[in-house]
Amino acid sequence: MTRNPIFCALDTTDRDRAVTLARGLGGSVGGVKIGKEFFTAHGPEGVRAVAAGGMPVFLDLKYHDIPNTVAGAVRAACALKPAIINVHAAGGRAMMKAAVDAATKAGGASRPWVIAVTVLTSLDDADLAAVGYSGSAGDNVRRLAALAQASGIDGVVCSAHEIASLRRECGANFKLVVPGIRPDGAALGDQKRTMTPAEALALGADVLVIGRPITGAADPAQAARTIRDGLARAA
Ligand code: C5P
Repeated sequence: MTRNPIFCALDTTDRDRAVTLARGLGGSVGGVKIGKEFFTAHGPEGVRAVAAGGMPVFLDLKYHDIPNTVAGAVRAACALKPAIINVHAAGGRAMMKAAVDAATKAGGASRPWVIAVTVLTSLDDADLAAVGYSGSAGDNVRRLAALAQASGIDGVVCSAHEIASLRRECGANFKLVVPGIRPDGAALGDQKRTMTPAEALALGADVLVIGRPITGAADPAQAARTIRDGLARAA
């Protein structure tokens, strides 16, 4: 393995905790994920504080708006030099294309991966029908992933159980960013359909988003290294 695929989800609004975690995880993870809670509380300055020291950041803000607005948000995000940003595929082809174009103009060769969220895993088939989607959640995941790829998007966030089919349908270069990962024996928390890091990687995941099994450990860096070393052994 040439690159550490673990991105640790820093799901907190506590700035000091996020900064301390990021600092402590340097060398043990490939990056950290910052979401809407942290960003709404601490903004770009908070992101810079977490990224200080060179930690790659997945800025998980899931943009979904008209193309012009998303392009502007992506340009602003690129000033923070994130490794990964994301949009909702449901924003449509023009919005996704505008996001990728804006990232390319702002970031050049070192632009972030722009990935798409297909169907939120909190939605089941009945929820999707209620908002006007036809077909199962799985059908919609595949359809929206294909639309994202056709729009120039670099990859999608997907559950571990979708890795194999998306890898088959979208090819080797499409990035698959996978949450819901639990090392053997780790508490599931509210995650229902989990997979181990080694299984997800073997199926073709590019990035493993892992939160509480690392952040909830007495020694987060050691927990991350244990997962990383297990992956290296399994590779
Ligand atoms: O603590 P845990 O490992 O469950 O954290 C997983 C992270 O991935 C959280 O930030 C969660 O919001 C995010 N996520 C997820 N499932 C999705 C999409 C994102 O768990 N389908």
